[in-house]
Amino acid sequence: MCGIVAYTGYREAYPLIIKGLKRLEYRGYDSAGIALLNGGLRIYKKKGKVSELEESLKNLPLSGNIGLGHTRWATHGEPNDVNAHPHYSSDRKLAIIHNGIIENYDALKKELVNRGHVFLSETDSEVLIHFIEDIQVNSQCSLEEAVRLALHRIVGAYAIVILAQDASNQLIAARKGSPLVIGIGKANGPASEYFLASDATPIIEYTNEVVYLKDHEIAVIRDHQLSIKNIDDVPTTPYVQTLAMELESIEKGGYEHFMLKEIFEQPRSVYDSMRGRVNSKQGYLLLGGLREHLGRVAKAPRIIIVGCGTSWHAGLVAEYLFEEFARIPVEVEYASEFRYRNPVVNEGDVVVAISQSGETADTLAAIELAKAKGAFIFGVCNVVGSSIPRASHAGAYTHAGPEIGVASTKAFTAQVSVLAMMAIILANERGTISKGLFYQLLVELEAIPDKIDQVLQRSTRKVQHIANTFKDASNFLYLGRGYNFPVALEGALKLKEISYIHAEGYPAAEMKHGPIALIDEAMPVVFIATRDSSYEKIVSNIQEVRARKGRVIAVVTEGEQLISQMAEFVIEIPVAHEALMPLISVIPLQLLSYSIAVMRGCHVDQPRNLAKSVTVE
Ligand code: G6P
Repeated sequence: MCGIVAYTGYREAYPLIIKGLKRLEYRGYDSAGIALLNGGLRIYKKKGKVSELEESLKNLPLSGNIGLGHTRWATHGEPNDVNAHPHYSSDRKLAIIHNGIIENYDALKKELVNRGHVFLSETDSEVLIHFIEDIQVNSQCSLEEAVRLALHRIVGAYAIVILAQDASNQLIAARKGSPLVIGIGKANGPASEYFLASDATPIIEYTNEVVYLKDHEIAVIRDHQLSIKNIDDVPTTPYVQTLAMELESIEKGGYEHFMLKEIFEQPRSVYDSMRGRVNSKQGYLLLGGLREHLGRVAKAPRIIIVGCGTSWHAGLVAEYLFEEFARIPVEVEYASEFRYRNPVVNEGDVVVAISQSGETADTLAAIELAKAKGAFIFGVCNVVGSSIPRASHAGAYTHAGPEIGVASTKAFTAQVSVLAMMAIILANERGTISKGLFYQLLVELEAIPDKIDQVLQRSTRKVQHIANTFKDASNFLYLGRGYNFPVALEGALKLKEISYIHAEGYPAAEMKHGPIALIDEAMPVVFIATRDSSYEKIVSNIQEVRARKGRVIAVVTEGEQLISQMAEFVIEIPVAHEALMPLISVIPLQLLSYSIAVMRGCHVDQPRNLAKSVTVE
């Protein structure tokens, strides 16, 4: 987590960096800071959001064409002004911004303290810049060389950028494990400009030519020239990519919050995730990234799905899909557990790694572990060029477009769409579904964007009314069965993430083994009770909640009669194949959590303590 931005060129650096930090705030917003060469190397930093930093600086003349900025998600040391980045070296001639964790910082800090270094903050990042300074002073080498030598001794993850007082035309950056993109701007006479950031969103306004720095690479931008070497000092040729991202896609476009915009984008984003891949008329279903490896994946004795948070929930839906249609045994694992429990992974096993950001540290580590054990890795990611696609053998992008709201919405439905396509392709290849069902599923897939649109058009008002009724509840229970069980988990996660109401998701039938004890007249229970193979069973579960005076809110299929008489509120959604129902039934739950959070005055796009991209374990 943490977002970093840096600029060198011919524009005023300060406004550009502030704007970039705002775009990266989804990565953390505990504190913000900038460093500029403004009559010497000056650092300005503050606890809180970027806007608070901006407000505190509004009367200062901040000029200069080079600078760094950081928005923090605290790891080492509480969120306060001192622990905010950037950090100075002892002589205050170097400033660093860092995203990641230096695992051996404590040992390095002791070494440096013994040599007389005094630290102001509790951060690992301050230790790194002192360490670099120490090497430079003692070895009488260039800053670039000192960075290289220091990084050889660093254990952990980093994306760093360093600005030096004595080099007004130089930025030094490096990465291992945390992302760093370099934007190559337009030349202005002999001058050129470069942008560095944790992702492309601060850059895209100025240029779409970018280089993704690779692990163990060090980039030096000096006198308008970019050069990249690996950590062993061997030059590498930068691979310049042209991004297709549009500026509008990372702005709010008239919506009050990014989350709302992203919820309403889902008819489009789900369509985009299927565009060029599904065509029911031609009986055509294709995932380019799977085609070459189809034989291997379809023959896998087992599929292991790894992910975190919402992506893990998409993985649970995929488990049902892969097992039902392709008849391949599936295990779904939290990446953070998988990586540390010496799992049995055999050659031939396929690991599907799901991630919106493509940067989640636990998911990346799970991939590396599975790779080392001989598994084939298939990445399902949203951010093009991010680390997980690069670490995977093959994969499919979800094409949801940039997701900025910390609570994931459109990424989930895009992930489920891609995983559904994958399941159907595998089933077709393995001959485990009939041709008739294959065509039917294609038609059903193509109908999903419209059905999502219907839910958005028809249920938003109703959901707001329900939100108003229950906005002061202290607890919520979400219950679903079959394909709707992961949806219950996702609904509960959305509510706790952004409204801070405690919520539990459970398989409806498991309720009687514990959560039923919580039910009383104050407990709202959200049932996802669409007409599917477990419909009768879930009706019984609703009766059990009613008998204990729980307040039932039910997401049901259009035309539902029975549950409408039992529930206090119903939200009707269109009929769909039960395997694709999560793509529709999740929508009212996203709207419900959003509406409750807004009514409670919560910061919807940047909920407390969370970050969108968790690049630390
Ligand atoms: C964080 C985010 C969640 C997300 C999870 C996994 O916790 O707040 O919204 O689901 O990370 O992120 P990924 O980018 O790997 O999908």
